[in-house]
This record gives sequence, C-alpha cells and structure tokens, in this order.
Amino acid sequence: MTDHPLQAWRDTLEDLGVMGLVREPMAAPEPIPATQVSRPAPHPGPRPVSRPTPPPAAASPRPGAPSATSSAPYVRPTDPIGCPPPEAVATAASLADLERAIQGCLACPLGPGRLKFVFGEGDPKARLMFVGEGPGRDEDLQGRPFVGKAGELLDKMIGAIGLKREDAYIANVVKCRPPDNRTPAPDEARACLGYLHRQIELIRPAVIVTLGATPLRELVGVSEGITRVRGQWKRVRVGDREIPVMPTFHPAYVLRQYTQDVRRAVWEDLKAAKEWVDKAVEDQGLKTED
Ligand code: URA
Repeated sequence: MTDHPLQAWRDTLEDLGVMGLVREPMAAPEPIPATQVSRPAPHPGPRPVSRPTPPPAAASPRPGAPSATSSAPYVRPTDPIGCPPPEAVATAASLADLERAIQGCLACPLGPGRLKFVFGEGDPKARLMFVGEGPGRDEDLQGRPFVGKAGELLDKMIGAIGLKREDAYIANVVKCRPPDNRTPAPDEARACLGYLHRQIELIRPAVIVTLGATPLRELVGVSEGITRVRGQWKRVRVGDREIPVMPTFHPAYVLRQYTQDVRRAVWEDLKAAKEWVDKAVEDQGLKTED
C-alpha cells in the first residue's frame, strides 16, 4: 500500500489530518507552510477534503449503492441487516450481541464506503471510556479504533496515567470511515449515535473522555471550540445515568500541535479523568456493584 515514497508521505499527512494541504496531482512532497500547521485551531476537524476516494468495488457491500461522496440522496435500506431495527440495538444484552446486530449497518452514506466496520474495543467493564470521531485509513483496514499514528499517541496518553489501552474502552462517534477522513456529517453522526449510546449503557463507564470537537458536539451536545472547553467537566445522560465527561484534544491535533502547552493540557485532562475514576471506584464501589 505504501510502497512508493510519495504514497508513504501522503499516508502520513493523511494520518495527521493535513492531507488537504497538499495540492493534487502531487509532483513531489511539498513542505507544509508553518503558518498553516502551527495555527491553533479551535477544533481539530473538519479536515480539508481534496481527494475523493471512491470505495474499491470489492469493499462495497451493495454494489451500486451511492457513495458518501455521491450527490444523489442516500436511500437507507429497509431490511434489518442494512438498517438494524432499534429494538435489536436496545435489547442487545452484551457488546458482542450489539456488534453482531449492527456490523452490517448501511443506515447512512458511510456504510457502503467502508472496508471494515469499526465497532470499538477494550474492557467491556471499563471505568474509563474514550470516544473519538471516526475511523481513519488504518482503522478502516484493520477494523479496530485508533490503531494509526493518532492511536499510537492515544496509547501513550493512556500509559501516562498508569493504565493500559486494554483497561479502557475505545469507541468512535461513527463506526465507518468518512471519505478523506472528513468530519462526519451531522446526519451520519445521528445515524450512529444510538449504537454509541447502547455501548455506553452496556459498559457503564465512570467517566467518558471525548477526543476533539466532534464527540463533544455529537455525544454531549456542546458545540463550543475544543480549545475553550477542554478540561472543563461536562455531563451526558445515557439511559438511566448521567456520566461525567472530560473533553480533551484529539490525539491527531496533538500530533499537529506538538507543543508543551498542548501536551500538558491533555495530560491534565486525563489526570483529572483518572482521579475521578479512582474516586468513583472508591466511593461507590463501582467496580463490584456496577
Ligand atoms: N481518529 C478517530 O477519531 N478515531 C479513530 O479510531 C482513529 C483516528
């Protein structure tokens, strides 16, 4: 996939969310103007779109289905596989049941373009849950969340608070890769939100850390810039519970803005989240009762 050096460069830029800064066709890797990459962005996405990548034919579960880049209105399938019935989601008794019910989902235009459905992974009883935006290229290939460069940094961030990736649960707002890693459209996020809610109901985390502006907006309903609200506790009601939410920067943003201030901010946010988890476990015996 990345045999050619230009392709490797391009993949790296795509991982870092700066793909759209490269003009096409690419004759040679171009330096990214410092003013464009170092300007504090109020929110890590949306990422510039420059390269429509129609899904490979083999990747489309429904040949001929309109792609996410098509201008034709997307027609949701009516069958329970293409569009899992809400009862199947609501009654899923475990994460495995839920994944089985929704893994063929074509309820929004992202479905036909995915290579793999990225359900989420981690400890099904995790006290700490991370919610990102949506799968990127590596995640789409592997069917696992946060396995690319941003994922490597997320693992380090989790390690910095004394946990391992497997101790937490990691999911995304949307389970299928948006083309060109663009921000999921509101209707795409809405189509997927019930799945995330059911995941949260089943996991019952003590704290959710939202990564970047998209999960904060789509899950918690807070649209303020992430730079302004990161580090400030929010709450989300899911089912019968109100769950504390700690908004922090997306790891892809941290990679782009690799300054001491940004890294320290993330460290403080995660430290606060971990302290709250420890307190909740201690105060309420969450580990055994919940
Ligand atoms: N970015 C996300 O928001 N989620 C992933 O799974 C990977 C990159």
